[in-house]
Amino acid sequence: MKISFAEPALPAKGAVVVLVEEGKKLSPAAKDLDKQTKGAVKRAIAASKFVGKKGQSLEIMVPAGSSLDRVLLAGTGKAFGELEQQALGGNVVGKLMNSGSAEVTVIVDAGAKDLTAAAANVALGARLASYRFDKYLTKQDNDNGKPTLKAVKVGVKGAAKARKAYAPMDKVADGVFFTRDLVSEPGNVIYPESLAAQCKELTKLGVKVEILDEKKMAGLGMNALLGVGQGSVRESRIVVMSWNGAAKSKKPVAFVGKGVTFDTGGISLKPGPGMEEMKWDMGGAGTVIGLMKALAGRKAKVNAVGLVGLVENMPDGKAQRPGDIVKSMSGQTIEILNTDAEGRLVLADVLWYCQDRFKPQFIVDLATLTGAIIIGLGHEYAGVFANDDKLADQLFAAGTATEEKVWRLPLHDNYDKKLKSDAADMKNIGGRDAGSITAAQFLQRYVNKTPWAHIDIAGMAWSKEAAPTAPKGATGFGVRLLDRFLADNYE
Ligand code: BES
Ligand code: MN
Ligand code: ZN
Repeated sequence: MKISFAEPALPAKGAVVVLVEEGKKLSPAAKDLDKQTKGAVKRAIAASKFVGKKGQSLEIMVPAGSSLDRVLLAGTGKAFGELEQQALGGNVVGKLMNSGSAEVTVIVDAGAKDLTAAAANVALGARLASYRFDKYLTKQDNDNGKPTLKAVKVGVKGAAKARKAYAPMDKVADGVFFTRDLVSEPGNVIYPESLAAQCKELTKLGVKVEILDEKKMAGLGMNALLGVGQGSVRESRIVVMSWNGAAKSKKPVAFVGKGVTFDTGGISLKPGPGMEEMKWDMGGAGTVIGLMKALAGRKAKVNAVGLVGLVENMPDGKAQRPGDIVKSMSGQTIEILNTDAEGRLVLADVLWYCQDRFKPQFIVDLATLTGAIIIGLGHEYAGVFANDDKLADQLFAAGTATEEKVWRLPLHDNYDKKLKSDAADMKNIGGRDAGSITAAQFLQRYVNKTPWAHIDIAGMAWSKEAAPTAPKGATGFGVRLLDRFLADNYE
């Protein structure tokens, strides 16, 4: 989608969107349009239920003699804040994407004090909503789902200022799109080596990318991670991405992602129905990779490392068995009672390696870790666990600001006790109760004393329903959350 900014003026062609504040208060552009059309705008409003509430829109007849495609009124609601502005941009694209119009002009001239910021947010929402993953639809044409909308022009007084405010947001959207692309790809296309190759692409933006192969990992003693991948014909990988945007002396912030490129459950095989969904079990890694792209793209003033543990969990003659005992890089041994609790085994070694090598200010890990988090929180909030209140609070605030929401759940020694094993230092499952918490307790054993937060995104990485700023499918959840978390607290 081509996004541009211009001084506000009713266009001669394409579609046009004008704002109406709640209570039928017409924006200057809406008033102009009403005058030009001898009262058609007010008449249309009077004959409808449209009052300008947020999310509301009303298409009105194109005036006779006009060369416009269509005219849309969009409600700003009572408080036209950042998130409402983004949602409005997204809703406009959602409405017009397949409408036949190729271009839309949205005139942002009411509802907010800072109209240039509002315009930038409308543009961001529009871009985020325009995402499509249709590369495998070979028969798509104009009568069959192919998008027609190609360009969104935002009309605002002080367009240059809006353009400047939007520039870094566009880079964040690039990161979100990269995550969505990676998560959408099926398991035959995205596997550890090919996903590592995708990470390599970030070198073009100035990210340092280092790939650890199985030999290297074996030398480091990463048997927890390697055990998960041993049933797959695809070799496992760890990718370390570094973005250095601050002084060399500054300790990095660190992000770790679960990258199970396909999770069959292994020998503890998952049931057939819905198993295809486990192609997005690399969602945590996808978010970390997209975040690195966003940070490098907008040249964030922070030193950040992103580490992803990439494995495929398959049943096979060589696969890990229930009852196997492995020694992790940390030296702690693990009795594997369920090969489907594999994410924590991967993260155990990557978390340990991360704190050991980088001594970061903190680690935030992201993982599609447990089905139980979906039972608890559904698809509204991701679960967050932390050994540090400040981190948890900062993540909560960034979640509220971006609408990528996180809700904190507890950690406690009494949950940790559920991991006790008779045969090894711990087992990899803690029983049915509080499954997301015992999984987090397991991870905590591998972060040493580092301030750490774990975000369980199992309910958030993929959506079966479209949202204003995301079509259904891979959401890219976490990129905007963590970008904001860094911008607000660490740059
Ligand atoms: N990748 C799954 C978690 C998952 C389930 C993500 C559904 C998204 C949707 C994870 O590896 C897993 O299988 N977890 C098990 C853990 C159990 C064996 C302790 C689970 O949640 O059932
Ligand atoms: Mn699993
Ligand atoms: Zn998994």
